[in-house]
Amino acid sequence: MANRVLVLNGPNLNLLGTREPQTYGFETLKDIQTMCAATAEMLGLDLDFRQSNHEGELVTWIQEARGMADAILINPAAYSHTSVAIHDALRAADLPVAEVHLSNIHQREAFRHHSYVSSVAYGVICGFGSLGYKLALEALAQKLK
Ligand code: DQA
Repeated sequence: MANRVLVLNGPNLNLLGTREPQTYGFETLKDIQTMCAATAEMLGLDLDFRQSNHEGELVTWIQEARGMADAILINPAAYSHTSVAIHDALRAADLPVAEVHLSNIHQREAFRHHSYVSSVAYGVICGFGSLGYKLALEALAQKLK
């Protein structure tokens, strides 16, 4: 059976395409989803791609991933820098986690330099735009082999 990857996108990522394009580019989340689907097909992965503006909903989805997914790719967006709850949920899920950011968070405001997710991630990719999602899927596919 194909390995299943849960792809989670945090708050405001539904606005991609119109939100601060100088930072996040002109691609929409739908464009990223389409690119991820094509990459997953090439890698033989099953994808479940979601976005939420609500911390609790993301926590619930991470809890449900246990037993339903083999890995998690997450762009926690602003919750990266604030959410102990998402950190705890990812730790409890006990699955390989790839953390992705479109922008290079280390080049931006100081409050973006720390992520609560990074310490529970298998790997972190930032600054490569939507290519980061593709690279993360490739890394997870390797890890799950
Ligand atoms: C982001 C970076 C975060 O600091 C920010 O809050 C986001 C998007 C990124 O993909 O670059 O919403 O995760």
